[in-house]
Amino acid sequence: MVISMYVSDSVSINEFGHLTLGGSDTVVLAKKYGTPLMVFDRDAIVANCRAFTESVSENYGDNGRVLYAGKAFSCKEMCRICRDEGMGLDVVSGGELYTAIQADFPMDRVCFHGNNKTQQEISMALEAGVGRIVVDNLEELVQLNKKAAAMGRKQGILLRIKPGIDAHTHDFIRTGQIDSKFGFALETGEAEQAARAALSYGNIELFGIHCHIGSQIFDVDPFVHAARVMLGFMAKIKLDTGCEMRELNLGGGFGIKYTEADKPENFRVYMNRVAAELKNAAAEYGIKMPFIMIEPGRSIVGAEALTLYTVGSVKHIPDVRTYVSVDGGMGDNPRYILYQAKYEVVCANKADQPRTEIVTVAGKCCESGDLIQEHTPIQKVEAGDILAVLSTGAYNYSMASNYNRIPRPEVIMVSAGEEKTIIKRETYENIVANDI
Ligand SMILES: Cc1ncc(COP(=O)(O)O)c(C=O)c1O
Repeated sequence: MVISMYVSDSVSINEFGHLTLGGSDTVVLAKKYGTPLMVFDRDAIVANCRAFTESVSENYGDNGRVLYAGKAFSCKEMCRICRDEGMGLDVVSGGELYTAIQADFPMDRVCFHGNNKTQQEISMALEAGVGRIVVDNLEELVQLNKKAAAMGRKQGILLRIKPGIDAHTHDFIRTGQIDSKFGFALETGEAEQAARAALSYGNIELFGIHCHIGSQIFDVDPFVHAARVMLGFMAKIKLDTGCEMRELNLGGGFGIKYTEADKPENFRVYMNRVAAELKNAAAEYGIKMPFIMIEPGRSIVGAEALTLYTVGSVKHIPDVRTYVSVDGGMGDNPRYILYQAKYEVVCANKADQPRTEIVTVAGKCCESGDLIQEHTPIQKVEAGDILAVLSTGAYNYSMASNYNRIPRPEVIMVSAGEEKTIIKRETYENIVANDI
């Protein structure tokens, strides 16, 4: 019998009482590959890619594209999946671009982001032939034009715009909009100045604008509001300069469910409402519907992976708390120490038992703050048990470090009961490879 009693829809429990992901027994995987181990459900990721691309075609026909935001989890296999699904890719560094190049990702479908692209990264993007560079500041615009001229090229760009929407508080706080390191502000006139500058440069082609209002957003209203503001800016530029921009990239940010407290709106509601708003606004402003891009990251991979650890010790401190220490920690998952991110924790080999204990799951780093979750319900655990932290697909491995010279974990993907390694476990040799 397969049942699920966890918040995450992605996992189940098999007849042995073990936690499964994508039909694979996580306890068996932990034994076979060792821990810590990250396990991704390939079929679920592909299903998410398809759901987004289908929704874009339903709403915009072929006048739109889904770009996977690689920062959520970048590796060659993810690039290959997105390539094969006909998607685009958002990269934000030379390293992410290099990964895409190595995976034969079609460069015309790549958007290169970043608030401080280095000279080397700008050259790399030009040489690779990325479709769009998302320009963040005037200095970058000047440098890009120079470099493109030196190569005899005309580079397609989007301008990163701050639409002035604070989505995290679900409030449209107008004063907060200037205080972001990303992009050009609308209300200071900086964005219009950037558009005029871009139009004046001979080796730059201004295709459109981009915004990204935040991440893990549950409410649809800020997205709808941002879409209207952005289209309004396109209309203003048309009026002021005669240039009708053709592309609008609305970024990512759709929330996922990590715990019961998270109540994300179904992404289709977001997609349909934004599309309806854009159509109305385009008609009102008298401009053509632009080519629409979206950049989901977390919502493609976040819920479709888990991290497996082995419990090393259980320390009861009477009247204080119980620490369950595992063989990973902030090195492979820095999200708790960074912003107290909530996760669901399950004892994978006792997944069918009730979670009767309240514990703190601690990592093995030499840092008191190295915790994966505090005061979390879990089954009664002991040394040797396998712990699963759910929904670790986004911003975990991609934010991982080698603190304390701990190697990064192995990453595998499961599909229909089969599994394969997509990122090898780091070795101590890897750790000292660049030491002189
Ligand atoms: C420009 C841009 N696009 C897309 C994303 C992806 O956001 P999410 O993973 O929340 O969908 C981010 C995240 O920071 C971003 O900065």
